[in-house]
Amino acid sequence: MRLLVTGGAGFIGSNFVHQSVREHPDVRVTVLDLLTYAGDRRSLEPVADDVELVEGDVADAALVDALVARSDVVVHFAAESHNDNSLAEPWPFVRTNLVGTYTLLEAVRRHGVRYHHISTDEVYGDLELDDPARFDESTPYNPSSPYSSTKAGSDLLVRAWARSFGVRATISNCSNNYGPYQHVEKFIPRQITQLVDGARPKVYGTGANVRDWIHVEDHNSAVWRILEDGAPGRTYLVGADGEADNLTVVRTLLEIFGRPADDIEFVAERPGHDLRYAIDPTLLRTELGWRPRYTDFRSGLESTVAWYVDNEAWWRPAKAATEERYAQQSR
Ligand code: NAD
Ligand code: DAU
Repeated sequence: MRLLVTGGAGFIGSNFVHQSVREHPDVRVTVLDLLTYAGDRRSLEPVADDVELVEGDVADAALVDALVARSDVVVHFAAESHNDNSLAEPWPFVRTNLVGTYTLLEAVRRHGVRYHHISTDEVYGDLELDDPARFDESTPYNPSSPYSSTKAGSDLLVRAWARSFGVRATISNCSNNYGPYQHVEKFIPRQITQLVDGARPKVYGTGANVRDWIHVEDHNSAVWRILEDGAPGRTYLVGADGEADNLTVVRTLLEIFGRPADDIEFVAERPGHDLRYAIDPTLLRTELGWRPRYTDFRSGLESTVAWYVDNEAWWRPAKAATEERYAQQSR
């Protein structure tokens, strides 16, 4: 099988490429990645001999057409992915997430190629903190931020291309991922690297917001199950029963580093900050028999901390610039 992975030099995409090379030796992987600030060719170094990396834009119709023409399956991870950046500058989100997805859909339509679309639980908006409800496949779309609204729009394009043009497409909407190779702008790597530097973790508001954490390898094993047996036209929600509020996550990290539980800097609230996300993954489990492997969040966090400690050379070059960007955004 010839697999085209967009965004394969980013966090989830690079982990997906590693897993594909490791567990599916019959697959030939090509990565299409623009290598924005969030992409890093070093994330593909462990599989460099097995993977072709094409540096380019998912909104470049000619390039996308040529790559799709020589692929059997496309898995589309590439996106502008960070909410805080989307609040500061929405246009790259509209361009990559909407125009990029449109460009890929037109190419897979022309060449009759199977397409899997990676999306997020944020398309459903948020839940109240005290509401026992969880998102499922029938939850109406209600995105809050420029990031999540462009992801929601891209999902709707996929649904329309599947229905109107018969594109063989599936969608997965996953909750918050953590694990190796995640950019230091994101919550967990930001706090781990603060702690490595002897600085305090930075928590928005009061830290009461809840996210539903899943290890990146579990997300990617779900994507493989969907590629193997998912029904074209279907949407699958991916989650691993990992709800935790931000304060609890930070306190667990403080404990792992042997630091006092109140060694936290509370900083300005994110505008429009979603309160709680929670996924009901029943369909994926019953229909496709998928199960997560990382069911103990604390030990998943410990192994992630160990990865960042062991791989400082990977994240260090981005740390100061990321903190500078945050400082500018708060001015
Ligand atoms: P990331 O920001 O780490 O990586 C994005 C990758 O896309 C980077 O390598 C970047 O260079 C590339 N890219 C950006 N614009 C591009 C363009 N125009 N053309 C080609 N490549 C481009 O993101 P991530 O966290 O790995 O997220 C990957 C996907 O998973 C996204 O679609 C995101 O919406 C989705 N998702 C993320 C999470 C999460 O918790 N991180 C959860 C659910 C879904
Ligand atoms: O739910 C899936 C989504 O998860 C993905 O679609 C996005 O691509 C991904 O970035 C993530 O979005 P979040 O906005 O939930 O993730 P982030 O890591 O930015 O923040 C997680 C929580 O931590 C959120 O409540 C905001 C808070 N936060 C974040 C940062 C960076 C802090 O309290 N302090 C911080 O420094």
